[in-house]
Amino acid sequence: MKTITRDEAFALLKKYNKDPFHIQHALTVEAVMKWYASELGYGEDAEYWGIVGLLHDIDFELYPEEHCLKAPEMLRKAGVGEDVIHSVVSHGYGITVGCGATIDVAPEHEMEKVLFAADELTGLIWAAALMRPSKSTKDMELKSLKKKYKSKGFAAGCSREVIERGAEQLGWELQKLLTMTLQAMADCEDEIKSEMDAEE
Ligand SMILES: [Fe+2]
Repeated sequence: MKTITRDEAFALLKKYNKDPFHIQHALTVEAVMKWYASELGYGEDAEYWGIVGLLHDIDFELYPEEHCLKAPEMLRKAGVGEDVIHSVVSHGYGITVGCGATIDVAPEHEMEKVLFAADELTGLIWAAALMRPSKSTKDMELKSLKKKYKSKGFAAGCSREVIERGAEQLGWELQKLLTMTLQAMADCEDEIKSEMDAEE
């Protein structure tokens, strides 16, 4: 199966995404996926996990109403393998998109379950980081993340229901998902920042 390199994947992302917020989210999920791969014993596949993270929202900027529905043809056209396409689409499992369709490709591999669980949560954690004087995850404690998580008015667009379903699919307590994803983001924050700086 033809695979895509990391650099090709990044170029492909930038072909369809211009908003720095979207680029940063993609780089964040890439880094978090690589972190999880190493942490969960899939170190050899870390780059592959990262590429899936990098590409997971490829269609969102241009087709927010058809999220996960447009991605397959965009990726196929670029020669991305069907395994990556499956993983990308599965991060929307059970979620209804703008046009009324519900994504019915379920996460199967542990990598896909991690993507589903961590994607939405990285958004919430980053929103929490931006509220801090440091604007950083590096000095954020689990306790303060939990408080933000429980506050319904905070980052209301980040669905707690999706995050909790994600933890459940992994067979993890929510606490484990929060702890690990916060750690992943703190560990990768400098690297993501320097990649973003390089893009400017
Ligand atoms: Fe995402």
